[in-house]
Amino acid sequence: MSKIQVMSDGTLQVPAHVEVPFVTGDGIGHEVTPAMRKVVDQAVQQAYGGERRIVWQEQLAGQRAFDELGTWLPEDTVKAFADCGVGIKGPLTTPVGGGIRSLNVALRQGLDLYVCLRPVRWFKGVASPVLHPEKVDMVIFRENTEDIYAGIEWPSGSPEAQRLFAFLHEELGVGKVRFPQTSAYGIKPVSSEGSKRLVRAACRYAVAQRSGHVTLVHKGNIMKFTEGGFKNWGYEVAKEEFDGQVRMDDCIADAFLQNALLYPDRYDVIATLNLNGDYISDMLAAQVGGIGIAPGANINYEAGRALFEATHGTAPDIAGHDKANPCSILLSAVMLLEHLGWNEAATLITQAMEHTFAAQKATADLASLMPHGKALGTKAFADTLCEEIVR
Ligand code: NAI
Repeated sequence: MSKIQVMSDGTLQVPAHVEVPFVTGDGIGHEVTPAMRKVVDQAVQQAYGGERRIVWQEQLAGQRAFDELGTWLPEDTVKAFADCGVGIKGPLTTPVGGGIRSLNVALRQGLDLYVCLRPVRWFKGVASPVLHPEKVDMVIFRENTEDIYAGIEWPSGSPEAQRLFAFLHEELGVGKVRFPQTSAYGIKPVSSEGSKRLVRAACRYAVAQRSGHVTLVHKGNIMKFTEGGFKNWGYEVAKEEFDGQVRMDDCIADAFLQNALLYPDRYDVIATLNLNGDYISDMLAAQVGGIGIAPGANINYEAGRALFEATHGTAPDIAGHDKANPCSILLSAVMLLEHLGWNEAATLITQAMEHTFAAQKATADLASLMPHGKALGTKAFADTLCEEIVR
């Protein structure tokens, strides 16, 4: 057996030799993904001396899949992620014009990966635009399948937009559309099921791995039924299912963006809807060193599916120059190892990163901002981490 099994109580049974499908990705994916695999293999070897091993299984998606198979997202790739229960992917080119809007969104929706999990922490030595980046230590649970992000929208002037307006106006008595003939329309579905499963996952995580403090971030003051519904359903989950174990509060999204800059240590686990989560993730990532170092995962805990990913794009401006920072996909791999319960290997990687950054060694994007930064290429940086791991 080499595949993960989900037990009835939601825990994972992980074989010693576990199959992990991976997509190299486009652009700098060809540099950061091999670097990640090398460091992960080294850490697993060091931690378990050959007793445990990741059996990497390459899958295609993105430009390479299109060139070789004529499809941007082969069914086999989605199936491999679903069958194995885990996977990791490099950045993918977004197809221009027609078909799939975004491969990442298609994967999240296709596999019903309803949690976008983004831990944000600072590594000593990494330059930051804020005075106290060490105070930033949060985990964001962003809802991944609903909200205005669901892609239900129609362009201005289209017959669908006109029909929708006619329905709103005639059937529902809506008189608030300022310029009905030239408006584009989007729909924002937010359900109690979708909100509750997201908040439930955040609460479980907060109780098991953090301080038990969960903040609901929303715009319920303006969007009373969607964002306000999310807030109310969130409180219901904490009250009905966590029996005093969760300390829950809430914050209006605009105030949160300010507070997270001014008082980041007031927050721990954040639960929020899709669009808010998009903005919040990038803003917090910027406080600790930017997109080159921000990890992420998309998860459905009940189905036992988790897809870990680099959060940046394909960086065509630096692709092929051995300059890309592999830390985003590498820290995502650390999340994957933690997900498997292979915490010893995960810790070896984070400690190696801490030592390497503290010695002012990093790829050019980070080194150029360090007072005594020494820029290493992607390969040399990965080799340095491997040396630290066995030290
Ligand atoms: P991008 O994230 O690829 O690049 C933005 C800037 O950040 C560039 O200057 C790039 O050099 C730099 N950068 C990004 N990752 C870096 C790394 N690991 N190390 C050092 N520097 C890094 O965003 P852009 O240019 O908007 O998108 C390029 C392509 O990537 C597009 O096709 C876009 O759709 C796709 N994309 C894919 C994502 C994914 O697969 N998760 C996410 C974002 C964009």
